[in-house]
Amino acid sequence: MKKIIIILSSIVVIIFIILMIFLFNTNSKNKDIDNVKDKETTEKVKEKEDNEFSKLSYYKKENLDRYKAYKTINPDLSIEDIVTRVNLNLDKEIYTDTRPSTNLNTNYLLVNKFNYLDSNYIPENLELLNNSYAKSGIYLVKEAKDNIERLIDKAKNDGMNIRVISAYRSYSYQENLYNNYVKNDGVENADTYSARPGYSEHQTGLVVDVTRAFDDFNNFENTNEYNWMLENAHNYGFILRYPKDKEDITTYSFEAWHYRYVGVELAQKIKASNLTFDEYYVRYLESNNN
Ligand code: DAL
Ligand code: ZN
Repeated sequence: MKKIIIILSSIVVIIFIILMIFLFNTNSKNKDIDNVKDKETTEKVKEKEDNEFSKLSYYKKENLDRYKAYKTINPDLSIEDIVTRVNLNLDKEIYTDTRPSTNLNTNYLLVNKFNYLDSNYIPENLELLNNSYAKSGIYLVKEAKDNIERLIDKAKNDGMNIRVISAYRSYSYQENLYNNYVKNDGVENADTYSARPGYSEHQTGLVVDVTRAFDDFNNFENTNEYNWMLENAHNYGFILRYPKDKEDITTYSFEAWHYRYVGVELAQKIKASNLTFDEYYVRYLESNNN
């Protein structure tokens, strides 16, 4: 009997010890988890404090070091401008770190010196423009074509004579054009006014180059038609794509004649924002579409 009591008490003691060990372990594990959580929270707060860029909706964590470096070189730029420009790769050499454009066959398609179209990309729904609106053999995506015709009709009503001299250009057409410019003017100059093949917005089928009818496009800036376009084009879905004083963002010289179709609603918003299409894309379109 005594033996049984000893055995039973030993079992109880062992169970008690095991229970205590278990409870101690769980407790210290919980403490470890709490410690890790505390550390993570502190780091997050620290990152937020350290990082003035992260409050922007278009902030990209992977670009943080580049934002900081860009700010050092451009101390007068706003945080918004720094994040926008770095996201556009404007801290890099043109035509480096390029990527294929997304949003193909939509009005949101961004093509610039860092976003390109495949050599065999041909937009859907290309249609020939009527000779009364354009030089012969000019094609545009149907929606853009319908709207440029409406625009030209309205301009005519207002006493303006606007004509399309270039619109959709294939990859190989742009290749010839660019190579000729390079031959005559050198790469550095050519890159300021002509896109390399694959990088021309004309390949989207959403672009028109316009002039006062039968006038030299280089004179367009000095015409009433140019001012009319500035005041009205957005109501037909077109925006001036390479404005004056925005060369450092578009990376192209001012082109008074080059208009991009984005749809009426978006064109009105872009016009009101006073941003280029590139900037507007980074701030409001990119994160919604990708
Ligand atoms: N002239 C414009 C930039 C183009 O070549 O697409
Ligand atoms: Zn153009």
